[in-house]
Amino acid sequence: MNHFDYVDGILHAEGVSISDLAAKVGTPFYVYSSATLERHYQIFKDALDEQGLDTLVCYAVKANSNQSVLRTLGNLGAGADVVSEGEMRRALAAGIPADRIVFSGVGKTAAEMAAAMEEGILELNVESIPELDTLSKVADAMETEAHIAIRVNPDVDANTHEKIATGKKENKFGIDIEMAGQIYAKAMELPGVKPVSIAVHIGSQLTDLAPFRAAFTKVAETVQMLDNMGVPLERIDIGGGLGIPYSHGDEEPPLPKDYAKVVKETLGHLNKKIMLEPGRLIVGNAGLLVSEVIFDKKGDTKRFVIVDAAMNDLVRPTLYDGHHEIIAVEEAKNDEIHSLSDVVGPVCETGDTFTKNRELPEFETGDLIAFGSAGAYGAVMASTYNSRLLVPEVMVKDDQFAVIRPRQDYEALIGLDKTAPWLEENHSE
Ligand code: LLP
Repeated sequence: MNHFDYVDGILHAEGVSISDLAAKVGTPFYVYSSATLERHYQIFKDALDEQGLDTLVCYAVKANSNQSVLRTLGNLGAGADVVSEGEMRRALAAGIPADRIVFSGVGKTAAEMAAAMEEGILELNVESIPELDTLSKVADAMETEAHIAIRVNPDVDANTHEKIATGKKENKFGIDIEMAGQIYAKAMELPGVKPVSIAVHIGSQLTDLAPFRAAFTKVAETVQMLDNMGVPLERIDIGGGLGIPYSHGDEEPPLPKDYAKVVKETLGHLNKKIMLEPGRLIVGNAGLLVSEVIFDKKGDTKRFVIVDAAMNDLVRPTLYDGHHEIIAVEEAKNDEIHSLSDVVGPVCETGDTFTKNRELPEFETGDLIAFGSAGAYGAVMASTYNSRLLVPEVMVKDDQFAVIRPRQDYEALIGLDKTAPWLEENHSE
């Protein structure tokens, strides 16, 4: 459920009209509903609580790292799953305490490890033997002890898009689960690291519980083995990945309460704290990308709706064949003649296509449309390709709105480049 609905014929985000917002901030822009954000977090957390599980929900910052999003979730008690020093700094700046932050990722640099330890974050999830060795050296030199998880790769097919599947042997993530005993034994010997947790994450946008069950079952067996070895495991970090509905109808991802049951059934008997890293589930359906129609271009055989948003603003359709609903902001449009159309942006690539052959009403220049489910992996993946400005982000709460990131301006965009001194007009040898 989300808080984007028609009111008096105009799409609203909670109590705020999308067309009023467009008039105020210009298009394209992202808009997020704080009520939806809060609701999704709460439904997820409540489902786990109902199973009697002791949990820490560490929101995956990569899905949407805006300070206002982080603060909204942090205020509800969420921790943060970060994958770079930048994300860690964002989470801390938004007031999420260090002892609720977990640092994941296959390629942490020594400098990032040191920064994480300086801040005293809860745990670092280690994904390889060289990473373990480096972390041990860095921590030892700092005369500190890093609390770590080993991220295991359970070799489970997540049954999702190949670019976002992470739990098979051929993926770069984690350490082969069969080697867990060996690696934990090594970690117990090394100075500067203390293994207190085990981590797994098999992929994103999972629409079936079976892969979760398979992975968690393997992790449970490994935890029992590690317990027997005397590894002081306190926690199990089971990653994120629960999918969301992107379109009405065909896709029906599992409900949080059914996911929570699988967690309980597979891991509940181990008496460990369970950490979770949902990203998309929390923010995905809490955001829209709003765009204006530039032209409705009808050729002999094809129709193209050309809008002012492009692949640089929302890359999911071209990168993962991602489906996003296309919603007319004016409700009456839905009654107008429908025909098949591609929806494309102005970027000079055929890949700048949001959808192909979608049944859409007639549009005129200036009409507004919204791309649904754009809250996760939308703004965070934007670029300035074609020297297009990063678009603003707006957050709505009831009938209030706030621009939580203003539109970039051309001075900022071009000013990032520096002219090499020998190219300056007054340069002399
Ligand atoms: N934890 C780890 C270690 C991860 O790698 C990820 C996502 C998550 C948690 C959060 O997963 P979620 O709950 O959001 O599925 N840009 C892609 C998705 C990339 C996901 C990367 N890792 C997309 O737009 O579909």
